[in-house]
Amino acid sequence: MRVLVAGATGYLGGYVAREFKARGCFVRVLTRDRGRLGDLAGLVDEVFEGEITKPETLTGVCDGADYVFSSVGITRQKDGLSFWDVDYHGNRHLLDEAQRAGVRKFVYVSVMNGPKLRHMAIVDAHEQFVEDLAASGLDYAVVRPTGYFSDMRDFFEMAGHGRVYLFGDGMHSMNPIHGADLAKVCADAVAGDQTEVPAGGPDVLTYRDIARLALEARGMAIKIISVPEWVARLLPKIVKVFHKRSGQTLEFLTTMLVSDTIAPTHGTHTLRAHFQALADQAQAKP
Ligand SMILES: NC(=O)c1ccc[n+]([C@@H]2O[C@H](COP(=O)([O-])OP(=O)(O)OC[C@H]3O[C@@H](n4cnc5c(N)ncnc54)[C@H](OP(=O)(O)O)[C@@H]3O)[C@@H](O)[C@H]2O)c1
Repeated sequence: MRVLVAGATGYLGGYVAREFKARGCFVRVLTRDRGRLGDLAGLVDEVFEGEITKPETLTGVCDGADYVFSSVGITRQKDGLSFWDVDYHGNRHLLDEAQRAGVRKFVYVSVMNGPKLRHMAIVDAHEQFVEDLAASGLDYAVVRPTGYFSDMRDFFEMAGHGRVYLFGDGMHSMNPIHGADLAKVCADAVAGDQTEVPAGGPDVLTYRDIARLALEARGMAIKIISVPEWVARLLPKIVKVFHKRSGQTLEFLTTMLVSDTIAPTHGTHTLRAHFQALADQAQAKP
C-alpha cells in the first residue's frame, strides 16, 4: 500500500506517517521544507518538496499513491496566509492532483462538529473543502477530532505559573486525543467504509479537570480562575481588529472552551500521563 502524507511536519501528520510505516506501507510525505521533518526524513520512503498553496509545485505528488492523507492546515503558523489560502485552496490543489493521479481514497482531517460551526472562518474553510471532497467522486473519509494533546500544552504552561484561567465555570467537557492514538484512527479510516469519523481520546474531562491535572503535574496548589463567558465572546472580536487571523483562531479556541466537544473514545494515552511526562521533561532541563 502506497500512501502520500501531507502535513507530516505537523503534530498529527508526523504520527500518521509513522503509523503507516509501522503498518508496512510505502510512505511519501509532502513538505515545503525537508529540514522540518527531523528524524522522520530518514524513516519515510520518499520526500516530495512542494508548497501546497502553489499548484505548479505539486505536479506528480500523488502519482503511484493508493491513498492520500492530509492534515495540512493553519494552526499557529505565521506566514501571512489565511485559512482559505491553506485549509481550503491548498487542500483543493492536492485533491486536484489526487484526482488526476487516480488515487483510491483521500482521508482528510477537519474538526469535530464542523458543519455546525461554519460561522467561524477556520471551520468554514475546512468544511468547504469537505464539501468539495464529497463531490469529487473519490472515495473519502473525514476524520473529526475533538482537540489534540498538543493544544492542552497551554493549560500546562499556565499551570507552571501557579494558576489556570478558564472561561465560564469550566464545567464543559471534552475528550482530547493524543496524536499517536488519532494516527491509528486515521490509518484505520483508509480501510474503513465510514465517510465521517469523529474521534476523541479515552477520558472525557471537564476543563476544570484538565486545569487540575495540569496543576497537579506541576506540583502546584489547585488555583483555577474563572473569567466570565462574555469575555470569551468579546476578546476575539477585539483581537480581530488588530490581527484578523489571530482573532479567528482565538474565536475557535474560546468557542471550544464554552461548549461540550465529545466524540467516540479511542486510544490509551491519558492526559494525566501526558502532563506528567511534560513535567518530568521540564524538570530534567538544566
Ligand atoms: N489542534 C487541534 O486540537 C485540532 C483539533 C481538530 C482539528 N485540527 C486540525 O487538524 C489539522 C492538523 O493539526 P496539527 O495540530 O497537526 O497542525 P500542525 O502541527 O500545525 O501541522 C499542520 C501541517 O500543515 C502544514 N502547513 C500549514 N500551513 C502550510 C502552508 N502554507 N503550506 C504548506 N503546508 C502548510 C504544516 O507544514 P509546515 O511545518 O511547513 O508549517 C504542517 O505540516 C489542522 O487542519 C487543524 O485545524 C486540530
